[in-house]
Amino acid sequence: MSLKQPMKYTDYFPQVMEMMSTHGILLAVWSQPGKLANAMTIGWGLIGSVWSRPCWQVMVRPSRYTFELLQSQSIFTVNVLPKSHTHALAVCGSKSGRDLDKLAECGLTVTPGEVSGAPVIDQSILHYECHIVHSNDFVPEAMIPDIRKGAYPSGDYHRVFWGEILDCRVDPDAISQLS
Ligand SMILES: Cc1cc2nc3c(=O)[nH]c(=O)nc-3n(C[C@H](O)[C@H](O)[C@H](O)COP(=O)(O)O)c2cc1C
Repeated sequence: MSLKQPMKYTDYFPQVMEMMSTHGILLAVWSQPGKLANAMTIGWGLIGSVWSRPCWQVMVRPSRYTFELLQSQSIFTVNVLPKSHTHALAVCGSKSGRDLDKLAECGLTVTPGEVSGAPVIDQSILHYECHIVHSNDFVPEAMIPDIRKGAYPSGDYHRVFWGEILDCRVDPDAISQLS
């Protein structure tokens, strides 16, 4: 039984940003809807309000399996695991779902989200169910040379997926596991 309860999308913002930028959080997408999910670690992302809709912006390079999956899916989740799950964050951030079932490898399980059906990682402390409402590619010519050279030596420019947050939940008793 899930101990999570609905929260506002702005709740726990400092903790989520800190966790994302220091350890990473997990972006999950179905690879076989309802049966098999893939997760990748992300370290970049934004939460905000656009078109009067709460949104996550996640940035995914075209070389990722997740990118391929997001071409045919309109839903994803963002999941924040306890800090202690360093192995899972390392595996999901270095291996590709093209080669293995990363979630099984890490002992993680998923359940379809209550609102969108997107794969929610059961072991997460917080999760957001998102529906893709827009996507766009970074424009090299519009980027300062410093970032272009530093982040894109091989030209693998991120695509930005804008996911409207349809639902977000937290286990408040577990929040201390983020620090
Ligand atoms: C801490 C950390 C943060 C990362 N952040 C991103 C990110 O924001 N966007 C991205 O495209 N890749 C990011 N990566 C790399 C992907 O997680 C990695 O390439 C992963 O193996 C892709 O998995 P997939 O092929 O199953 O999609 C990150 C990796 C780590 C370790």
